[in-house]
Parts: sequence; C-alpha cells; structure tokens
Amino acid sequence: MGKVQIVSMRPEHMRQVAALHGEIFQNIGETPRKFLSFLKAKRLVFCATDPSGKVIGYVAGVVSLSGIYLNWIAVKKNSRNKGLGLRLMNTFENEGRKAGAAFATLDTRNEFKDAIKLYLDCGYRIFGCQLSPDEKLMIRMNRKLN
Ligand SMILES: CC(C)(COP(=O)(O)OP(=O)(O)OC[C@H]1O[C@@H](n2cnc3c(N)ncnc32)[C@H](O)[C@@H]1OP(=O)(O)O)[C@@H](O)C(=O)NCCC(=O)NCCS
Repeated sequence: MGKVQIVSMRPEHMRQVAALHGEIFQNIGETPRKFLSFLKAKRLVFCATDPSGKVIGYVAGVVSLSGIYLNWIAVKKNSRNKGLGLRLMNTFENEGRKAGAAFATLDTRNEFKDAIKLYLDCGYRIFGCQLSPDEKLMIRMNRKLN
C-alpha cells in the first residue's frame, strides 16, 4: 500500500475537504457549503491524502507574524489512531515557524476529547475558557513554537 501524504490544499481538494468537514461536524451545525466559504477566505490548509489522492484529513487555520491560530482539524473515522492528526499538527506548526510565529493558539469544544488529548500531546496548555453562543464550554489552548 502507498503512503498517506500531507500536502498543501489545492483547488481540486477543496470540495472534498468541505464534504469531510460536513460529515464530521454535522452534529454541531457545520455544513459543506458553510465550510467552502471559510476555505475560500485566505486560510492555511493542509490535507492528508491517501494513495489514490482522496482527502482523508485536514487542518485549517491562519498564520501571521505574531502567531498561528488553528481553526479546525479532523481525520476521517477509519483513518484515526495512525498518527495522521499529529502529522497534520506538525505540518501546520512548521509553516507557522517558517513565517516567524512564536505561538500557536486554538479554541476547542470541551466535548472534543480526542482533539484535546492530541493538543496536550503536542505541548498545548489550557489558559482559558468561555461559553460558545450555544452555551457549550470552549477551551482556549496555546503553546510556544520555538
Ligand atoms: C482529533 C483527531 C484529528 C486526531 O486524529 P488522529 O489521526 O486519530 O490522531 P493521531 O493518530 O495522531 O493520535 C491519536 C492517537 O493515536 C495514537 N497513535 C498514533 N499512531 C499510532 C499507531 N501507528 N498505532 C496506534 N496508535 C497510534 C496516538 O498516540 C494517539 O493516542 P492517544 O489518544 O492515546 O494519545 C481525530 O480524532 C478527529 O478527527 N476527531 C474529530 C474531529 C475533532 O474533534 N476535531 C477537533 C475540533 S477542531
């Protein structure tokens, strides 16, 4: 079997990324259409692609001189627990380092336990919390990149 690659999102990946996002986050009201608009704004997005080129995971955020912000990360259910989440995080953070970012920040729902575990494993620490508009507990985390 060939390798799973982590690549910068190209235009031909966009619909697949949006479809995967809609599939994984439909329970919190996310739709492919809404995510397509998000992706079309200037974002930093990397995809995990299987040997046939199909998108099986993605990470999306923004990068600036002062820091990077992670908006979303997800891996298709049957491709989890193989190190893809970690590879996506590392790729995103390295892009931030190249741009001179000193910190990475993210907000996540407290209910996303697998993601919080991944972030803790990557060296993120919790430094705040707040309620989302639908009254869910949101956790803010960050880490130094250098
Ligand atoms: C969070 C998420 C992206 C993690 O993706 P993943 O590809 O499963 O992540 P990894 O494989 O790198 O790590 C997950 C676990 O697999 C383990 N693992 C990694 N490679 C492995 C391997 N080859 N064999 C066995 N286990 C492995 C890791 O050690 C880790 O274990 P832990 O949970 O006990 O710490 C995924 O669970 C997901 O898509 N969740 C739903 C979406 C979500 O909540 N996103 C966050 C909100 S923005």
